[in-house]
Amino acid sequence: MATTKTKVLIIGASGETGRSIANGLLEDGGFEVYSFTRPASAQKPQLLDLAKKGLIIRQCDLSAPEEELAEALRGIDVVVSSVGPADQLSQLNIATAAKAAGVKRFVPCAFITVCAPGGIMWLRDEKEKVYNHIKQLKLTYTIIDVGWWYQIATPRLTSGKIDYAMTVANDELVEGGKTPSAFVDLRDIGKYVTRIIVDPRTENKMVFSYNTVTSPEDIFAMVEKMSGEKVERKHVSKETVMARVEEGRAHSETYPFDASKFTLRIAAEYQLSWGIRGDNVPSYAKYLGYLDAKELYPDFKPITLEEYIQELLSGTATGIYTDRISRIY
Ligand SMILES: NC(=O)c1ccc[n+]([C@@H]2O[C@H](COP(=O)([O-])OP(=O)(O)OC[C@H]3O[C@@H](n4cnc5c(N)ncnc54)[C@H](OP(=O)(O)O)[C@@H]3O)[C@@H](O)[C@H]2O)c1
Repeated sequence: MATTKTKVLIIGASGETGRSIANGLLEDGGFEVYSFTRPASAQKPQLLDLAKKGLIIRQCDLSAPEEELAEALRGIDVVVSSVGPADQLSQLNIATAAKAAGVKRFVPCAFITVCAPGGIMWLRDEKEKVYNHIKQLKLTYTIIDVGWWYQIATPRLTSGKIDYAMTVANDELVEGGKTPSAFVDLRDIGKYVTRIIVDPRTENKMVFSYNTVTSPEDIFAMVEKMSGEKVERKHVSKETVMARVEEGRAHSETYPFDASKFTLRIAAEYQLSWGIRGDNVPSYAKYLGYLDAKELYPDFKPITLEEYIQELLSGTATGIYTDRISRIY
């Protein structure tokens, strides 16, 4: 007897995180995978590539009336959202529509580093507004955070050898770069999602799905050792980070979102959280109530940092955000 596949709708399948999720689900084979895509983006090459692998595109916009959102959600078991930082609150209406449509699980856009809500990271607090709305709806949810992508964690080399994949590099070391932090390969996010969304243990829970814990200085040293090149260190003090945070906050109190004002704030608050406070580690995640994917899935074989750096050096890594200008989240 044929088993019914779980029907998953991805909001943001054309984006970096969304493509990882779509690839993970499509490669697994146990899912029928749909994308929720605004009409203007339906012909994006990233989506058409996924459609060749089986992605079914449903055209709709998050600002559409509830009946249109309900139509886009028809028959869907699980919604996974990976909208960009500016668009967090645009998930509120579709969460309401998902509850009305009988969606069995809603995975709102988390996919960042570990941080407690309430004034440290604006981005975390935006996401938390969506989580609170979901909880008020009594909609079954799972929140998945992942640590910092390998793809934005490595420094440039002076030879320029890895610039081809350095759309967003990390050339700075905060407070000596010794604060431990969790990292993930962007490509593994979808593989974690594939397991988490069908796991009853993760219903109404937060899950921390990271690959490894290391420090930025250790990453610099690894790149140096594996490349045989000296890597320049741009040291940034706690005082500099705090000044950037204050400046970012002072210039980004207005709403709606203005990327030119908020990007500085988002980047500085990340450095505050993972570089100074040391929030982005499994022990703190556990303290905050997260489940640890390493304990849930001990057989999961993540891409190691060393493997990723080897790809970078051999010229086979893929840059991120190559379809638009550089930016840091
Ligand atoms: N952990 C880390 O190191 C890290 C790094 C970067 C980002 N993140 C987080 O990951 C999340 C996703 O970021 P990303 O960089 O992967 O996103 P992204 O590449 O900017 O993609 C955003 C996606 O959302 C879609 N979208 C936005 N508004 C929409 C609307 N009204 N209707 C339908 N679709 C809409 C976009 O569709 P279109 O094709 O129509 O534009 C696009 O597919 C963010 O919340 C961010 O904070 C984490």
